[in-house]
Amino acid sequence: MTLLNEINKRRTFAIISHPDAGKTTLTEKLLLFGQVIRSAGTVKGKKSGKYAASDWMEIEKKRGISVTSSVMSFPYNEFHINILDTPGHEDFSEDTYRTLTAVDSVVMIIDSVKGVEPQTIKLFKVCRMRGIPIFTFINKLDREGKEPLALLAEIEEVLGIESYPMNWPVGMGKRFLGLHDRYTNTFVKYNGNEEEEIIPLDQLNGTDISTHQTYLDTLNEIELLEEAGNSFDVNRVHKGELTPVFFGSALANFGVQTFFDSFLQFAVQPQPRKTNEGFVPPENEEFSGYIFKIQANMNPAHRDRIAFLRICSGTFQRGMTVNVSRTNKSIKLTQSQSFMAGDRETVDQAYPGDIIGIYDPNIYQIGDTLLEGKDAYYYNELPQFPPELFRKVRVKNVMKSKQFKKGIEQLVQEGAIQLFRQDSTNDIILGAVGQLQFEVLEYRLGAEYNVEIEFVSLGDRIPRWIQSEKFEKRVFDSRSLLVKDRNGQYAVLFENDFTYRYFRENNKDIELVDLLEAN
Ligand code: G4P
Repeated sequence: MTLLNEINKRRTFAIISHPDAGKTTLTEKLLLFGQVIRSAGTVKGKKSGKYAASDWMEIEKKRGISVTSSVMSFPYNEFHINILDTPGHEDFSEDTYRTLTAVDSVVMIIDSVKGVEPQTIKLFKVCRMRGIPIFTFINKLDREGKEPLALLAEIEEVLGIESYPMNWPVGMGKRFLGLHDRYTNTFVKYNGNEEEEIIPLDQLNGTDISTHQTYLDTLNEIELLEEAGNSFDVNRVHKGELTPVFFGSALANFGVQTFFDSFLQFAVQPQPRKTNEGFVPPENEEFSGYIFKIQANMNPAHRDRIAFLRICSGTFQRGMTVNVSRTNKSIKLTQSQSFMAGDRETVDQAYPGDIIGIYDPNIYQIGDTLLEGKDAYYYNELPQFPPELFRKVRVKNVMKSKQFKKGIEQLVQEGAIQLFRQDSTNDIILGAVGQLQFEVLEYRLGAEYNVEIEFVSLGDRIPRWIQSEKFEKRVFDSRSLLVKDRNGQYAVLFENDFTYRYFRENNKDIELVDLLEAN
């Protein structure tokens, strides 16, 4: 019974957005609600020399402490919240995508001024592929942005997901009067500060809002939504087919609490997860989990690493012995920690949905399943993700070719980067989703394998996998580079969208798919 209670309390999610949409600001407000921090500004305000709680990695790097926490856990009302950080900016990497496999739902922030932006699209696609419930927060309503209807159309057209606005903004920027809450039938009045004055819709008559021209104009839009919009269907939300949309301002802390409360109500608790032997429900008594990220220590003086484990079933007890499915070896989990924005505390017990850090004496790999008991299944949660940046790599000193090969093989195996070979020359080509991955690889080859390398950039490329059994190799050239991935699958790296489309036009018999379709 207690296990089930613990499961039902858990809400494990990530916030995805394009840089600058307001992820840090919104995260700060959620931490405030959770009383994890006491005042705004403790977290926010890069320019004032203060840092976001989720920006700890940067601080730790500067201080020379290398292990970071990118999970924030705290209690809020009857819930236990786990927020997983998905770095944007320069530290975007495959870890970012992998983190999305460890959550049960996602909050997508969209800047009302800019609309749907490139990084949001990339992250969204990964969530979509996994059918994760997605909740949308349209931010910066205190500024003049795009029209709300245009924003909804953009979400539906660019991202291809249906939407259901839970509330509707009345005006924006200087004319912003507040939110018409369709779900609670209230009007949430914006007084230019954090205070939210809540007026039931049937008591709105006679107030200055009800006669305000902006409000009257908005009523037409609301009517349109009621008549022609999607209807709310929680099952479709859970399947990731319909996204509830909330409007607000993270900076003004307006509409944030309502958003968070509804989100917690409709977001799912930890769900059964897929293994090679079918789905395992979280309430299964036997502990299980999988590693989605390994934080290698960048300081060569300390070789320890932390593996991030998502608990999928049963109860974690510190000191328990588990089996690693891949190697069938037992290990006692004595060093384990939970995360609270920079503070890592020893954790004695944890439940499905929780993320814990376990000490890795260099035995784990990304994707490893850890199990209690005699079962030997494994979670197959980690597909390959579409790389965008490609570089040829060579060893500087040919005498070190052997270590170079070994290093590359191990780091590829670990999931640090993706390996390809040019079909015509057998040259090694590495693919990454973010620049940082090349830097980490170069650093680690030097520090751990004593190998210096040089890169030749192939720039941004559009990779497509070849599905056709037979094809003519002479149709490929340097702008449509034929390569094999590490599983021996043929793929083509196109120089840009134009070469890709041109190629498709002229080689209709070659069937090409993107990686998420091929997975
Ligand atoms: P990110 O983590 O997604 O990159 O975004 P972040 O929260 O850092 O926000 C980016 C900028 O947008 C910040 O301004 C922040 O204050 C601003 N912002 C966030 N939410 C809102 C909002 O609801 N309304 C308005 N008007 N602005 C918002 P900055 O000047 O770039 O940074 P800072 O000097 O405030 O740190």
